[in-house]
Amino acid sequence: MKRVWVMRPFHDEAIYNSLKEHFEVDIWDDHKTPPHDVVMEKAKECDAFLPEGIDIIDAAVLDGATRLEVIGNRAVGTDNVDIPSATRTGILLTNTPGVLQDACADMTFALLLDAARQVAYGDRSIRAGKWVFFDQTPYLGLDAYGKTLGIFGFGGIGQRVAKRASGFDMRVIYHSRSRKIDLEESMGAEWAPSLADLLQASDYVSLHCPLTDATRKMMGAEQFAMMKSTAIFINMARGGVVDQPALYEALKNKTIARAAIDVTDPEPIPMSDPLLTLDNVVITPHVGSASEATFKNMGLMAVRNITAALTGDAPETPVNPEALQNR
Ligand code: DGY
Repeated sequence: MKRVWVMRPFHDEAIYNSLKEHFEVDIWDDHKTPPHDVVMEKAKECDAFLPEGIDIIDAAVLDGATRLEVIGNRAVGTDNVDIPSATRTGILLTNTPGVLQDACADMTFALLLDAARQVAYGDRSIRAGKWVFFDQTPYLGLDAYGKTLGIFGFGGIGQRVAKRASGFDMRVIYHSRSRKIDLEESMGAEWAPSLADLLQASDYVSLHCPLTDATRKMMGAEQFAMMKSTAIFINMARGGVVDQPALYEALKNKTIARAAIDVTDPEPIPMSDPLLTLDNVVITPHVGSASEATFKNMGLMAVRNITAALTGDAPETPVNPEALQNR
């Protein structure tokens, strides 16, 4: 019987039960990412992995993976897997696009409005005993309506962020790997020819791109200096897209006004990270897609992908279908 390793014990019973109908299921009994040596061992014992998007599956794991056939990532991001090595070793990778777009766009707006109106800051102040008389001045917000939102990465998530922005009467500009002229008209979004153009023109900058060699540390000191001093920076993509010490400097020196980030580098963010000393940043623990329904639906999609791959059907969302030729 084929064997599937689910790399966390916190999923809905439906996820485990649906796998158990066809496979032997091995569940990692710890909420933390499994250690590398365990991942190496499991790749020799199991036919499929169901990892989270932060579980590193590198060349060493893949090269030694005598049994592994498919990695069903429960994430749209695939930067945790060495894709060229997976392809070379004939191991199929699947991900969970589409199903999480609206949840991620909702969370982007939660962060955008939080940073604009200092929701978490107000809450932190009250809990610290600072609300002892009526004085709004430490909490004055920045408006969202009528402002320009710059979206970097105009895939499914970026487009849904733009849709929400229109309800807030925001002007939307975007930059992406490819220009999407059809969407410009239907969504009222304007093309920014470069990242620099986007940064210079935006009151809010929101990242929705994958972490790749092209985007790694794309936002550094030079890029923050291009932004307006009143601007708010939102990162819903990956921590690695940002040079985190440069973000700290930009916030500390008020090069930009505020930031709201759902992802950090590394994750979890160490308590010693200087970003945690700043009041003009709000940080959430990589929960962009994590509504109850979407969390479960991503798991079910990963299960469908794994089941298809191990039973000879075509998975819904293969990332490297060319791997099958190297089996
Ligand atoms: C994703 O789906 O990529 C989310 O960031 C969770 O890892």
